[in-house]
Parts: sequence; C-alpha cells; structure tokens
Amino acid sequence: MSRLDAVIVGGGIIGLTVGWKAAAAGLRVVVCDPAPGRGASWAAAGMLAPVTEATAEESELTRVGLASLTRWPRFAADLAADAGVDVELRQDGTLQVAFDGDDRRALDELLAVHRRLGLDSQWRASRQCRELEPLLSPRIRGGLFAPGDWQIDPRVVVTALIRAFANRGGRLCRSSARRLHFDARNSVGGVELAGGQVLAAGAVVIAAGAHSAVLGGLPPEATPPVRPIKGEILRLRADPEDLPFTRTIRGTARGRSVYLVARSSGEVVVGATMQEAGFDTTVRSGAVHDLLHAAIDLVPAIEELPIEETLAALRPGTPDNAPVLGPSSTPGLLFATGHHRNGVLLAPFTADAMLEVLTTGALPAEAASLGAGRFR
Ligand code: GLY
Repeated sequence: MSRLDAVIVGGGIIGLTVGWKAAAAGLRVVVCDPAPGRGASWAAAGMLAPVTEATAEESELTRVGLASLTRWPRFAADLAADAGVDVELRQDGTLQVAFDGDDRRALDELLAVHRRLGLDSQWRASRQCRELEPLLSPRIRGGLFAPGDWQIDPRVVVTALIRAFANRGGRLCRSSARRLHFDARNSVGGVELAGGQVLAAGAVVIAAGAHSAVLGGLPPEATPPVRPIKGEILRLRADPEDLPFTRTIRGTARGRSVYLVARSSGEVVVGATMQEAGFDTTVRSGAVHDLLHAAIDLVPAIEELPIEETLAALRPGTPDNAPVLGPSSTPGLLFATGHHRNGVLLAPFTADAMLEVLTTGALPAEAASLGAGRFR
C-alpha cells in the first residue's frame, strides 16, 4: 500500500469521527482497531451534557462542550446521510434531581456554578420535576432542568460511523497498532501493526482512548498524559411503549451519584462509577448495588426492569479532564485523545479541529487551549 495521508490508532467514536471527516475531505486514511467501537464508546450512555457535566474549575471544558453541542444536529444529519442509517438525537433535556437534604444542598451549589458560568439550567420544585417525569420518586427535594443537555445512542453512532467512513473511502484495519514507525529523519512515518506490517503515513493520530499512552515507540516527551478511569455501567430493558421516563435523569440519592438514560428502543442505561484501577475492567458487585440503589431511589419503578448487561470500560483521563488535541512535540505524531467523560459530546468539535490539523498542521484558534503543549 502506498503512503497514506494519516493512520488513526483507535477506532472509538473519536478515531472513527476524525477518520470519517478526513476521508470525506479527500484524505487517504486508515483507522486501526481490532474491535472498532467496542471500548469506552460501547459502554457510554451518550449524554451530550455540557451543562450538567460542568464544574466551577473547568469552564474552558464547558466552553468547548457547548461549542460541540451546537454542532451535533448537523453532525447527526450528515452522519445519517453518509451511513444510510437513522441516528436519533434526543433533545428533550436533562433533569438533575436531589433525593435528600444533603443532596439538595449539593444541587444548590451546582445551580450557583451554573449561574456563575451563565449556563441555562432552571430550578424546579419536586412537584414540577414530577410534572416532567411522573415516575420520579415523590421524595425528591427538587431539581434542575437543563433543556440544552441532550442524548444520543453511542452504539448507533459508532455503527453508523463505521459505515460512513467506508462509504467515504476510508479503510478500517481490524488489527492493533504495535508501535510507531519512524522515517530516516526521525519523524513519525506510520505504524507497525501487530502482524508486523507497516502502514506508512504522513501523520499518525493517536485516538486510542485510555490506551493512548502505551503504544510502542512513543518518545517519553511525546507521550500523552492519559490514564484509565474505570466506569461501571448497567443496561436495563423496558417496554419501548412504556418507558419509565423519557428525559435523561441525573442526581444524587443519599450521596450516591447516578444517571439514567432511556432510549426509544426500551434500553435504560444506569451509570456510572468513577474509579482509578489501572486497566482493570471487572464489574464489582458493590458498584452494581450502589448504582441500582441510587437509581431506584430516584425512579422506584425501575426496580421491576430486568438487567440486560453490566459492563466496565475505561475513560481516558488527563490531568485537567480536558482532551489533548493536535500536534505533539514529535513531527508527524498527532493526538485526539483524553476525552475523559465527554468523548461523545466532543466528537464533532474534535473532528473539526483535527481536520484543520491534518490539512494545515495547526489547531484552530477555538481549540488552541487543548494542545499537548499545556502539559509541558
Ligand atoms: N459521561 C458520563 C460518564 O463518563 O460517566
């Protein structure tokens, strides 16, 4: 195979999105992944939630999240057109509720953060929350309604991306990248696959999620500061005609945090833990207990639903919880990684930024704060 424009290491939602946009722009691209879409993207609940994910310390991440959210409607429509499958974007908002008095105090603090950051979230008394979602527990002490926090099914998205990428002329290589391949001038010139084959390319994009720092040959000074942060998550099954709620519900119940996402297919996602446990992906019984305890506190009716799946996956965490995009200190080596809790939300923004990097060599101004240089 002659020299490619780019090899993308990792076929999760980020790698596939960057690959699809690059292929659509006429670049010759290969995405390498032995199991595309089956890592964190497969586990993700698909919340597009820059408001209810916002923290006081991460206002830049919130800005980027809001910028990406506004791109989602167009992104979903383009993806559906290129893939030939429907990609349902649900825009009915998110309710973040509190179960007891302590939970309510934490929610008041969150509301104050939203006010400071100028975010659109509105206080709702308990009765008003239950007007929106009648099966919420009558015990809840109230909530916030964030009309601009949406959701999408990441499994549908990655399946569509695989098709859209191929339809735009991209090639998916179902193999692991073993190590970086350097050319005679010591620039990154491709990757060596697990079987020994070398894919030569003008640029290598590391989009390997939590595994982004472990590729062979990464120079220490150009290793992205990405570490795995485990999330355990459950899927329940409801009757699609009789969903226990429709808007995304988040909250704390007796200090335990949880979110619940319902899809028109009847899938109900209950997530997720946050744990630093290396690359371990076992599901702990205590995690299942805590998630279900909090979820049933908030929406008692879900205790009747069968558990369909328990799963753990690894978020790619960074020191400031924001992604690492663009050029590294090694010529030819690029990053699109470190999306932590926001990979699905940030996919459109990331793809736009990375297309600019692949075509001009530099991040656009709107993404300049996310470069690898901030960690040096
Ligand atoms: N985006 C939610 C999570 O990472 O659990």
